[in-house]
Amino acid sequence: MSEETRRLERTPILPLVVIGVLASAIGIAIGLVIDWFPTDASIQAKPIDNLYDLMIILSVPVFVVVTIIVLFSAWKFRMRPGEEQLDGPPIHGNTKLEVVWTAIPALVLVVLCSYTYVVLTDIEEAQANEMRINVTGQQFAWSYEYPQAGGKPVRSTTLYLPKDRPVRFYVKALDVLHDFWVPAFRMKVDAVPGITTRYRVTPTRLGTYPVVCAELCGLGHAVMRSTAKVVTPADFDSWLAEQQAPAGGADTGAGASDGDKGTKAPEIDAKTIFAEGNGTSIACGACHTLADAGTSSQTGPELDKVLKGKDADFIKTSITDPEAEIAEGFQGGIMPKNYADTLSPEELDALVKYLGEVAAK
Ligand code: CUA
Repeated sequence: MSEETRRLERTPILPLVVIGVLASAIGIAIGLVIDWFPTDASIQAKPIDNLYDLMIILSVPVFVVVTIIVLFSAWKFRMRPGEEQLDGPPIHGNTKLEVVWTAIPALVLVVLCSYTYVVLTDIEEAQANEMRINVTGQQFAWSYEYPQAGGKPVRSTTLYLPKDRPVRFYVKALDVLHDFWVPAFRMKVDAVPGITTRYRVTPTRLGTYPVVCAELCGLGHAVMRSTAKVVTPADFDSWLAEQQAPAGGADTGAGASDGDKGTKAPEIDAKTIFAEGNGTSIACGACHTLADAGTSSQTGPELDKVLKGKDADFIKTSITDPEAEIAEGFQGGIMPKNYADTLSPEELDALVKYLGEVAAK
C-alpha cells in the first residue's frame, strides 16, 4: 500500500462533509442576503431575480466542493522532506467515481437549463395591447421612436413608458454593436447592425431609471446612457399628445425665428432637431443639457453654461468639427464628427442660430 493511500485511509471523511455543508450553507446565505440588483420595475424582474437566486443556491455548493477538494489535496498530499525523488502512485481510474462526478453535474445542468428555459419563455410571452417602441443605438446615444397609426412617429431621447402597459422593443444599431439595457427591468439585448432584435417588458413601478449600453462600443461607451421614465397612462397620453401636436412645433418655430417673419422658406424647427434629431442626425439633446429644449443628459458639456457669450462661428465649428476645441473636463472622440453630413446646410444654420439665441438669453 502506497504512502498516499495510507494517508487517505487515515483521513476521516465526515469532518470534510461537515465543513462542506457548513461552508455551502454560509455561502448560500451570503449570496441570498446580498442585494444584487436595483429596484425591480417590471413584471419580468421578479422571475429573473428568482432565477438568479436558484443559480446561487445550486452553484455555491459546486464551488465549495471543488475548493475543499483542491485545498484538502494540496495539504494532505503535500511533499514532505525526503520525498523529493518519489513519484505518485499509478492510478488507473475509478469507474464508480467517474459515473458519480459526471451524473451529478449533468443533473444540476439539466435542472438549471430547464428552469431557465421555462422562465425566459414565460416572461417573453406575447401580451394583449402591446405597444411597439423602436430603439436605435448609435455611437453614443439611444433614441426612441413611437410609431403612430396613420401619423408620423413620435421621436424622443428619453424613454417614456406608461405603467402596466406591455411594451415590445424593436432594437437596431446604426454603426457598431450596442446593447440596450434597463437594469431596473432586468431585460437586455444586443443592438446589432443589420438586424432587429426585440424583447418585451411591462413596467410596473413609476419612476426614473437609467438606460445603459452594455456592449463595449467605442470611446463613449461608458457615457452612452439615457433615461427611462415610467409614468401614469394619463401622463403618458398627454406627453404623447404634446409631442404630436403641431402647436408644440409652431411654438418653437416662432420663438426661434422671430426675425424671419415674412420669409417664404419652409420653417426649420431647430429646437426639435436639437431635442430629437432630424431622423438621420443624432439628437444633440441625447448628450447635452439645454434648458430651453428640455434636455438634461450629462454626457457632453452643459450647453446652458459653455455657450454663454460664444458667437455663431464658435457654435458652428463646435458642431461640425467637435475636436477643434474640447470643453474642459471632457474628452475627444465621443461627439459624432458627421453633423456637417447628417444635417442639411439650412438645418445647420438654423441650429447655430437657435443656439446663438439661447446662449444670448
Ligand atoms: Cu453603445 Cu456601448
